[in-house]
Amino acid sequence: KKEYDYLIVGSGLFGSVFAHEATKAGKKCLILDKRKHTGGNIYCENIEGINVHKYGPHIFHTNDKKIWDYVNQFVNFNHFVYSPLSLSKGKLYNLPFNMNTFYQLWGTKTPAEAKNKIEQQIKEFGSDNPKNLEEQALSLVGKDIYETLIKGYTEKQWGRKATELPAFIIKRLPVRFTFDNNYFNDRYQGIPIGGYNKIIENLLENIEVKLDTDYFENKEYFENIATKIVFTGKIDEYFDYRFGKLEYRSLRFETQILDTENFQGNAGINYNDIEYQHTRIVEHKHFEFGNQKKTVVTKEYPENWTSEKEAYYPINDEKNQAIYLNYKKLSETLNNVIFGGRLAEYKYYDMHQIIASALIKSKKELENG
Ligand code: FDA
Repeated sequence: KKEYDYLIVGSGLFGSVFAHEATKAGKKCLILDKRKHTGGNIYCENIEGINVHKYGPHIFHTNDKKIWDYVNQFVNFNHFVYSPLSLSKGKLYNLPFNMNTFYQLWGTKTPAEAKNKIEQQIKEFGSDNPKNLEEQALSLVGKDIYETLIKGYTEKQWGRKATELPAFIIKRLPVRFTFDNNYFNDRYQGIPIGGYNKIIENLLENIEVKLDTDYFENKEYFENIATKIVFTGKIDEYFDYRFGKLEYRSLRFETQILDTENFQGNAGINYNDIEYQHTRIVEHKHFEFGNQKKTVVTKEYPENWTSEKEAYYPINDEKNQAIYLNYKKLSETLNNVIFGGRLAEYKYYDMHQIIASALIKSKKELENG
């Protein structure tokens, strides 16, 4: 018998939930991470007493009571509601598109007035057969919303003109005819009291963790000490890129401590105007209603991805999806490795979806294995 039942590569939310469930079922786990900390992308760094979301702002939200109850075993949540604004052409607009936004754009005061305005704009600028992202957006919401609140942000995010982006990127653009600035529609929402690291610390209580350790630097050794591997890193890297490299969009974060108590009065403000290179500024203390003397803000710049950079958003176009399917098929032939999480499945997942996926995969594994 080998020393460990499971060697888990990656201490993000997927690896941590898997390790927790396996340990609860009496299995012995070792969890590795190549970073100097656990938690993957939900990790927060404490700066000036403020939990700084190091890999981008994270708001927990779900409609699924089982997932909500599950995370609440490990941490309690505050009553934070994400309600970002957008700075566009020198003015602030509420997001997501709702009655407040329409009032700010056009002065419309009733849902009937706002609906009328949008329908009129769609008629005037939309097309039946949108061929690119710009035409798609114009057909869904018309010119004013598109130009004021979508165009610049989207072009910065993808590093390409909206007329050169495929229409499929935007499938729907929800508009809301109530004065409701809550970005998410889910029933449960909040930020962990005490920060995200607490979830991971509690999930990994009594589990052996090795940080600063890259699985690939010692693959054979690690394979020999455990019966099974749970792999949450990049699937193309696992197979030595034999079908080609999967592509991503990346981000650069510029974080500053400011000697002021309250910089922008909100956790998130998007920057639609093209003269700013960043797409948003996050002021971290507002996630936890902080009243520290100083504040920490992060400007977020979208970037092209190269293999030294963090892989943030998979580019699920046809080319990449086809490459991924080759890896997926190959991965299914290995019966001692379980692939899971955003990098191994080459898929954007929210946190609640990652937890759901880790619970399903660990249950299946622990029942059969
Ligand atoms: P994650 O990337 O967290 O963990 C993988 C771990 O594996 C990493 O720690 C990595 O170092 C390690 N690893 C990889 N290869 C390795 C190797 N070879 N050896 C050792 N270790 C290795 N979700 C949400 O619900 N609300 C939100 O508001 C947001 N916001 C958000 C903003 C941004 C900018 C992004 C990119 C994403 C979000 N998310 C989100 C999504 C959220 O970040 C995501 O669902 C989880 O962090 C995914 O957890 P994983 O465990 O799959 O990956």
